[in-house]
Amino acid sequence: MSLPEHRPPLYLDSHATTLLDPRVREAMWPWLLVPCNASSNSHRYGWRAAEGVERARQQVARLLNCEPHELLFTSGATEANNLALKGILQAPRAKGWGLVTSQVEHRAILDPARRLARRGTEVAFVPVTPRGAIDLDRFRDSLTSHTRLVSLILANNEVGTINPIAEAGAICRERGIWLHCDASQAVGKIPLDLRQLPVDLLSLSAHKLHGPQGVGALYVRRSEPRLPLEPLFDGGGQEQRLRPGTLPVPLIVGLGAACAVCREDQPEETTRLAQLRDRLWQGLAQRLEGIHRNGDSQQSLPGNLNVSFEGVPGERLLAAMTEIAVSSGSACSSATPEPSHVLRAMGVPERLALASLRFGLSRFNTGEEIDFATAYVSETVRQLRAHPAGTG
Ligand SMILES: Cc1ncc(COP(=O)(O)O)c(C=O)c1O
Repeated sequence: MSLPEHRPPLYLDSHATTLLDPRVREAMWPWLLVPCNASSNSHRYGWRAAEGVERARQQVARLLNCEPHELLFTSGATEANNLALKGILQAPRAKGWGLVTSQVEHRAILDPARRLARRGTEVAFVPVTPRGAIDLDRFRDSLTSHTRLVSLILANNEVGTINPIAEAGAICRERGIWLHCDASQAVGKIPLDLRQLPVDLLSLSAHKLHGPQGVGALYVRRSEPRLPLEPLFDGGGQEQRLRPGTLPVPLIVGLGAACAVCREDQPEETTRLAQLRDRLWQGLAQRLEGIHRNGDSQQSLPGNLNVSFEGVPGERLLAAMTEIAVSSGSACSSATPEPSHVLRAMGVPERLALASLRFGLSRFNTGEEIDFATAYVSETVRQLRAHPAGTG
């Protein structure tokens, strides 16, 4: 079989980061050429910068259907998540308040949650169904009279599963519990309407939606009484004193432009990506025996496909995929790969969790690329199965 030439490797890892959209680059460019501190209120450079920031805030707000003043710009989703969790639960008045989150969160939630637990917050990690969504009955049972905040990933970054946020939010509302969502993978990929969704705080990241790295936002619902959020650090009055520091105007403009592009392209793009994802899965399933799709084939991000390959040594799977950039369901930071905590929480056996690949498709991928990836992955898996380690 001859495979088309693809150099450099075909990028199919868009859950990790996405390519900067040329339209976003164009919007950012002029701001890199002028001094722009949005807090400088004594001259035109500063006024223009402030206008640029507020325009971007409106663009983000339009995509999410919220008010611009409900958004705080941050350095990304990690910071937004930390601000949501610690900003509420570390405050002196939060003594005795508990947190409920899930077993399949990104580390940008798990790590702050564990730190809060070490400092005395009662934290529970709810289990998930084999499809990777929270189990609503077990979720309900995990809420106690101490629970004041719940944090749930909106769409999973490994398996793409979309959580039943409307239902979870309704349960939280009934009990006066605030709901935070890490929506880093969902914003710009699926429609989100914060006037409808019962969510109080929501994190997003520009580089997951073809915007620049180093900027994101935390949505904080304007409610009465106000959410008791405190800043993580002090130093200035920016962002309603909740996120002080000079605003990175070119990056914020980029985030706004990325949201505007998503808003325009989203309906068709969601359908196109889901078709490409289905084409990839069907192509692999036709060519290979013993493969398993991880996640939920219905409630899922359109650009996500996570597949386990039977009979393939996990540690060799990713190493063999030199022509495509994908990620594996294992953390390889140590000598022995660790299976993904998400797949394990879903009950995927360790051997299959280790032998899995995550494909992340984006607006820049074409049908031809997907056909290449299908043929390339099938052929590579066949070879790995035919030549187990040590047989040459
Ligand atoms: C679900 C989720 N949350 C948080 C993050 C961290 O985002 P950022 O790189 O903006 O800090 C990521 C990115 O890997 C993610 O996928």
